[in-house]
Order: sequence, then structure tokens, then C-alpha cells
Amino acid sequence: MRRTLILLTAGAVTAAAAVVALSPTANAATTLGAAAAAKNRYFGTAVAAYKLSDTVYSGILNREFTSVTPENEMKWDATEPTQGSFSYSSADTIVNRAVANGQKVRGHALAWHSQQPPWAQNMSGTALRTAMVNHVTQVATHYRGKIDSWDVVNEAFADGSTGARRDSNLQRTGNDWIEVAFRTARAADPGAKLCYNDYNTDGQNAKSNAVYAMVQDFKARGVPIDCVGFQSHFNAQSPLPADYQANLQRFADLGVDVQITELDIEGSGSAQAASYAAVVRACLAVTRCNGITVWGIRDSDSWRASGTPLLFDGSGNPKAAYTSVLNELGGTTPSPSGSASISPSVSVSPSVSVSPSVSPSVSPSDPQTGAGCTATASVNAWNGGFVVTVKVTAGAARISGWTVGVTLPSGSAVTNTWNATASGSTFTNVSYNGGVAAGGSTEFGFQGTGSAPSATPTCTAR
Ligand code: XIL
Repeated sequence: MRRTLILLTAGAVTAAAAVVALSPTANAATTLGAAAAAKNRYFGTAVAAYKLSDTVYSGILNREFTSVTPENEMKWDATEPTQGSFSYSSADTIVNRAVANGQKVRGHALAWHSQQPPWAQNMSGTALRTAMVNHVTQVATHYRGKIDSWDVVNEAFADGSTGARRDSNLQRTGNDWIEVAFRTARAADPGAKLCYNDYNTDGQNAKSNAVYAMVQDFKARGVPIDCVGFQSHFNAQSPLPADYQANLQRFADLGVDVQITELDIEGSGSAQAASYAAVVRACLAVTRCNGITVWGIRDSDSWRASGTPLLFDGSGNPKAAYTSVLNELGGTTPSPSGSASISPSVSVSPSVSVSPSVSPSVSPSDPQTGAGCTATASVNAWNGGFVVTVKVTAGAARISGWTVGVTLPSGSAVTNTWNATASGSTFTNVSYNGGVAAGGSTEFGFQGTGSAPSATPTCTAR
């Protein structure tokens, strides 16, 4: 777990820079989004606008995900709190950011019995139908051209064995409310895929059979529908069904895309990881399964946080479930290769002739396994002073903080530090650079008087 700090000394006039670099293992994708893209799919997450200022959250969001779903910001209560008066600012924040980052957006959701504004909850009949149509038109028009897939109607079927529609104020406006919503959405945004989205439809059962029959009927009658979303909220009471893949496939065979839209699986460790892997496998096995969205980033972001159902822990560290999803997608966690490539760039100024015998001792078996970190340094030194730039690299696991120790020659002192706090010659991360992804790195530096350090920096991870 050591890298040698290479220093060249030539009396009092010394200048040297040496960097020991590790070449990456392979070209396999190292993020969920990139790995899914290599399989022609997106990998998305639900996003809450108010969390975007959290740099751990947004860092993971930018790095790992190629699609976003506003978790609450596009719902009826959020977008039309007062009838006829639309409020898009939170959803716009998410959408504009996603578009700028090249991420797809899943719109969620235009018509739903839940999270309606109070004025709509109190409506019925023709007034409600008209209000629903106006809502779908306004919101889908506002986002026209920016939405990959819309959940046009959410959760319209009842649980249990009846296969009936869920009773709701919308359902009571007439059985055709769903197709009206789809036709209205198509007219407002012809470019978006239009999805029906539900839960407890992940395996074959009375509820999914009823949705299946509706989709079949819509296709037969030319009602515009392009996709079916399977929420896939799993836990001990509602586990991943054995016929998950077969169920996705039978919907796909109707001529619609299928998407896993709100995936979360309560649990931990290898059992959770195995369930996640099975979901990914099922999606990859169904050609028309074109994307997976997890319902939040860290466990602490989840709507059911106590079940720790997501891919990152509360500190933003990837869990076993993350690694299994990435592997199942054909990606790999970044880790340094066994062969180190050494590119010492020696710049000497003022010109003195030095005969550096550079023999860095790099152990090729270094940080391929386990957590921890390594530090490499490049040094610029002159008569009486020096600047050291230190690169901190995480090992095979993400770290959430680091401390680097440097041995200073006697008489030398650190006078200035950036991107770290110094206590003597011990350097600790600052708030924004403590978290380093597995195989990732961050840099800090310090300046000093006297002669430059000549010992190997140590790195301790937290
Ligand atoms: C949930 C959100 O995650 C919560 O923040 C909110 O309080 C309630 O709604 N099915 C859906 C999602 O379609 O919109 C729900 O999201 C979770 C269940």
C-alpha cells in the first residue's frame, strides 16, 4: 500500500518531479450508466430537486446515471397546486440539469389517484375529466421535446384477485379516462414514449393480467401506448417474482417497450445483491426492456429508508448491490492494474546536471483488493523551498476521508496548503474532497521552506 516518493537531490539546488502512475485495468465500463449504455439501455434514478445542492448526491448522480425521474416534482399537486396555475420550477431544475448533462428524463406522472392537489381531490365528473385533460395538455406541452418517456397514468388497477380498476375520483369519471389521458398526452408531446406504470404487476397475477388486457386492447384499437413501467418495489412481503422475466417478455410481445421504473429492494449484503442482479439479468434478456431506474440514490434518500433498499449507503459508498448490478451489466469497478507504468518527468531548473538513478519501488500487487488509499507525489524544489502536489487514490473500495503523512527534513516547514488541512506535516481532506470513488483520485498540495521531503508519503483512509 505504498508508493515511493521520488526525489532527486543535487546539493542545495534541487529540482525534480516524478509521478508514478497506474494504468487502468481494461476498457470495461466503470459506471452503471456507461455499462448500461454498452447494452443499449439507460440506467436511471429518481431525483429530488432539493437534494441537488448536496455534492455527494449530485456527484453520484452525474457519475453513475443516464436517466432521471423527478421523484415528486412533476406530480399533479406539485405542478398545478391551484387549478389553472402551473408551477414548474422544481421540475424544471431537474429537467434542465438532466438535459445539460445528456441524461434522459422520465416524466412522472400525469394522471394518478394519489398526490393530487386538494382542489382536484374534491372534484368529480365532467369538471374533473376536463381538469385532467387540461393538466395533461399543459404539463406535457411544457416539457415537449425533453421527455424520453412519460408515465401518463400511474397505478390505475386494484390489488388483489379481482383484476378490476382501482376506485378513484378519476376512475369514476368513466372507464375511458386512461385512454383519454394517453390520447391527450400524444397530442401534446408526440415525441415522448407514453407509458402505463404500476406496482404489484411484476409477475403474472390478476393485476398484471388486467394491465396486460388493457395494453392489448389499446394496441388493437390504436390508443397510443408505447411502454409499460414496472415499479419493482421489492421486500420480504413482496419479493422479486420468479416469473419476472417471463412477465416482462409477455408485455414486450404485445409491441410495447418495458421499463423498470422505480426499482428498490429492501435488504442488505449478498441476498440484496443477488436480487438486484436477477432484475438486471431479466431486463437484459428482454430486448424491449430498454431501461432500469432505481428509486433514489443512497439508502437515506429512499422513500423507505429503513429498508436500506438502494445501491449506495447513506454516505454515498457503493454497496454490494451496486457491484453486482455493475457486473451484471458487463461493467467493472475501476481498480489499478498489476503492471505499473512509471513516467518520471524530471524538470531541472536552474540547470544543474544530475544523474538521477530513478528506481521507484512499485509493488504491482498493490491496492487491487480492500479499501484504503495510496498517495503519490510530484515535487518541485528550488534552493530554499518546494511545492509538493499529492495525488490520493482510493483502493478497491470507496473511501470517505483520508489522511496523508509526509516526513519533512529537519529545518523544513509547511507554509501553505490547498485542498487539505495541515497539522504539521499531516494532511487531512477538506469537506469537499474526502469522498473518493473506488479507483478514483483527488489532489492536494502544499508549499514549504527548506529542503523538500524525501520520504514516502503514507495514506490512511476512513
Ligand atoms: C413516492 C416518493 O418517493 C415519496 O417521496 C412520496 O412521499 C410518495 O411517493 N409509486 C410511485 C411513486 O409511483 O411516485 C412513489 O413515490 C412511490 C410509489
